[in-house]
Amino acid sequence: MNKIIKVFNTQNLLADFFAKEILKKAESIPKGEYLTIAFSGGSTPKNVFEFVSKNYTDKIEWEKIKIFWSDERCVPPDDEQSNYKMAYDSLLKNISIPEENIFRIFGESEPSKEVLRYKFKLKGNITLMDEIPSFDIMMLGLGDDGHTASIFPIHISQFSSDDICIHTQHPVTGQDRITLTGKVINNSKNVYFFVTGKEKAKIASEILNENNSNKIYPASLVEPTEGNLFWLLEKGSATAITIYPTSYQDK
Ligand code: 6PG
Repeated sequence: MNKIIKVFNTQNLLADFFAKEILKKAESIPKGEYLTIAFSGGSTPKNVFEFVSKNYTDKIEWEKIKIFWSDERCVPPDDEQSNYKMAYDSLLKNISIPEENIFRIFGESEPSKEVLRYKFKLKGNITLMDEIPSFDIMMLGLGDDGHTASIFPIHISQFSSDDICIHTQHPVTGQDRITLTGKVINNSKNVYFFVTGKEKAKIASEILNENNSNKIYPASLVEPTEGNLFWLLEKGSATAITIYPTSYQDK
């Protein structure tokens, strides 16, 4: 695993860096093949989608990209809680991506049935590495409790599930969720954490600073075996990290 910690002066600089990552990777994809991306929910990914929507709609070859989700709330696709709806409203409705390249999780379906369907779609559309789907790009947010995707500290053992995708619940609201597990997340070629805001400074430092017993958080278990792990931090969330970032981008 190659860990890269990048601190950005603003959310837009963070978003622009990621947009250029997608642009670059899509350009290198041979005709007829696809760049596979797992979208995440969360406010920072939403900001990234909005930035891409404003600045990169005509630059990225969307027809070369297949979009999945790292997790979803078990709600209909038009529900304000839906990660799909967030991505549709902030990006998908503004780009020319073929409908068949979008693989949302059917939050409206019975969860155990949807887990089976989504697993079938993952295995049928994502390159396998050691027989496990291996995403080119895995987007993840960081909850201030250290959760990522929909794997929460109280259920941290789910990260190490033998299954690639599971049905779980939000520990406070009880909301049904469907989420990828560590088996897929750590099989990704590139994982990107998106972290902004001073309210995330504590959890980010607990996970990134080497001197913390940091394996109590699901996010701290994200270590793509053969891949790159990018921590993209807006400066407000990076105030308490003591290890030196790989780079600081201030313009
Ligand atoms: C979800 C996300 C979740 C999110 C974090 C961070 O479905 O809510 O997958 O893991 O990324 O909670 O969210 P914020 O960036 O909004 O704090």
